[in-house]
Amino acid sequence: MAFKKIGVVGCGLMGRGIAEVSAKSGYDVVVSEINKELLSKGMSAIDQSLARAVEKGKMSAADKDKVMGRIKGTIDMQDFSDCDLIVEAAIENLDLKKKIFADLDRICTPSAILSTNTSCLSVTDVAAVTRRSDKVLGCHFFNPVPVMQLLELVKTITTSQATLEAAIDWGKSLGKTIIIAPDRPGFIVNRAFLPYMVEAIEMYEQGVATREDIDTGVKLGLNHPMGPLTLADMVGLDTLLFIMDAIYAETKSPKFIAPVLLRKMVAAGHFGRKSGKGFYDYK
Ligand code: CAA
Repeated sequence: MAFKKIGVVGCGLMGRGIAEVSAKSGYDVVVSEINKELLSKGMSAIDQSLARAVEKGKMSAADKDKVMGRIKGTIDMQDFSDCDLIVEAAIENLDLKKKIFADLDRICTPSAILSTNTSCLSVTDVAAVTRRSDKVLGCHFFNPVPVMQLLELVKTITTSQATLEAAIDWGKSLGKTIIIAPDRPGFIVNRAFLPYMVEAIEMYEQGVATREDIDTGVKLGLNHPMGPLTLADMVGLDTLLFIMDAIYAETKSPKFIAPVLLRKMVAAGHFGRKSGKGFYDYK
């Protein structure tokens, strides 16, 4: 099944990236937000991201207009009724996601595929509230979506092979490399990523090394694009804590116990880049 129209629920950091890469690949896109202010903020961010591509000579101004012309912003979920694939990229709250999936199941055509961009919640649990669990899967993108090569597709025990294959074709058409993960806490990438982040934060917390040396060590010693503390600030410390807690709650594995320092920083409102302060200062 070749998709024509993609729906994206949520125009935050991840949703707007998914909308952008889909429209750039020629799909018509509907992207929603919960109110006009957030929608306008998300649409402006997509416009700015494309404007940067024009400035860098990676895209013509005419193509930018065409891409923007393919993206319709909405605050009405009914606008997803004729989408072939919907990617939910709302905040990480299981009850909210269940409500969105129940609504989408009612609104969308029976053939539509529903997916979630969750990085840590159970895809099976959101699929279970629909009458089409064979047509539900996880589409886990990475931040920043336009740059990151990977798309981790999450297959539950009820996802059909046809659904998975349609999602693989779509992901490839976006230029992404696909991996298939089981619906287990952390899937593949976060299961490897989080213990590494726990260790880096604990090293800093215990005074083993400076934040700069931890970051430089990993960056140059392992050839990562950025060190773990800089990356934590980019992902958002609140998001990181939420993911650790969610995976710990399911696995009870000490590998995923959030460092006390991370919890205190989040309690203090130090969320990383987005709040102006995290392991580094951004003001
Ligand atoms: N949107 C679009 N393009 C962007 C961008 C954004 N938000 N941020 C950077 N770019 C582009 C730049 O335009 C630039 O493009 P060109 O090379 O064509 O000019 C390119 O990316 C490199 O950017 P910069 O030169 O500004 O900076 P950089 O070389 O330091 O790269 C980075 C920035 C891409 C973020 C890089 O540091 C990186 O890959 N960091 C690691 C990111 C990562 O690990 N993400 C995963 C987070 S975990 C996650 O998402 C999963 C989860 O569930 C928590």
